[in-house]
Amino acid sequence: MYDSRWKSRFRKRLLKWFDVHKRDLPWRHRSTRYRVWVSEIMLQQTQVATVVDYYNRFMQRFPELEDLAKAEQAEVLKLWEGLGYYRRARQMHEAAQIVLDDFGGRFPDDFESALSLPGIGRYTAGAILSIADDQKLPVLEGNTIRLYSRLIELRENPRTTPNQRLLWEFAGEILPNKRCGDFNQALMELGARVCKPKNPFCDSCPVKSQCPTYIKGLQKIIPASSKPLKYEDLNEAVTVVARRGRFLVRQCGEGERWTGLWDFPRFVVSGKRATGQLEKQLKKLTGLNVELEATDLQIKHAVTRFRITLDCFRSASVSGRLKSSAGEAFQWADLETLKGLPMSVTGRKVADQLKKEL
Ligand code: ADE
Repeated sequence: MYDSRWKSRFRKRLLKWFDVHKRDLPWRHRSTRYRVWVSEIMLQQTQVATVVDYYNRFMQRFPELEDLAKAEQAEVLKLWEGLGYYRRARQMHEAAQIVLDDFGGRFPDDFESALSLPGIGRYTAGAILSIADDQKLPVLEGNTIRLYSRLIELRENPRTTPNQRLLWEFAGEILPNKRCGDFNQALMELGARVCKPKNPFCDSCPVKSQCPTYIKGLQKIIPASSKPLKYEDLNEAVTVVARRGRFLVRQCGEGERWTGLWDFPRFVVSGKRATGQLEKQLKKLTGLNVELEATDLQIKHAVTRFRITLDCFRSASVSGRLKSSAGEAFQWADLETLKGLPMSVTGRKVADQLKKEL
């Protein structure tokens, strides 16, 4: 796409910029494959500023891959609490166990083996092996899709299959022979901090003289937008069932939104004043006879494409026994136990509220 002089200038300018502007981030100290892996998984869908504290806590508890592999899933999820997209944590935990069993506890140093692990795709495998081992492997993620689109003046939707192929090819072509890890991080950092989606800081860009989008003033139309996400409104109800200072909580099962995390029983509801409907659903789920009343607590939050309005109900009276077929998914937890359970963010909000008033 570009000749070797263009590429050589581009590499020099980008690396020089990175040497001055790179952020001091914990995973940039002692960049082992395991440490880079954890950072890359956390950075998927999450901002650097949010990740740092989580990363430090995680590394303190699981300094080596083996520590992670041998931990209970609940503890891993607890350390992930609030980061969202919990499948990332479950898959990473599973992958750590595979690495311990099949690769002698060392994260594999070849691309194909890395790619075979749960939760690791082409981007993540390339990022880990280039950053930790300086292997010559390209990366393509949200920030670099935008950056490369501007650098090659791609006016079409960059997310289509042929355009993804084109962008991967470009990513591979511009890689230098040395400092590949720094180069990839520099690209992502430039994308995140300078080549922003709206109002990019082109004045501060080290490669603006090589960017056709800047030269032609096309920043507003490149990258072309993919279809905007369609949101769907959803009403849900959470039910706080209390008996003798303990609260009924349930562990989310396989295929649910927060697999492995604990939550108060939750239901999708059609209308707001749905106590009767909820009481029936609770009875069916737990065997308990619960009389519910509404509370003032309402939480609005978004998960993937759903905009959820969550109304909180509490028990006015409870009788009967938890049916045995409800099984291990349920427990009666006091406030101290609740504190230690990994919960969804809204579950945690409800739990915190309990201390105050419920
Ligand atoms: N985003 C994801 N991984 C990154 C990295 N290693 N450096 C900068 N931004 C990133």
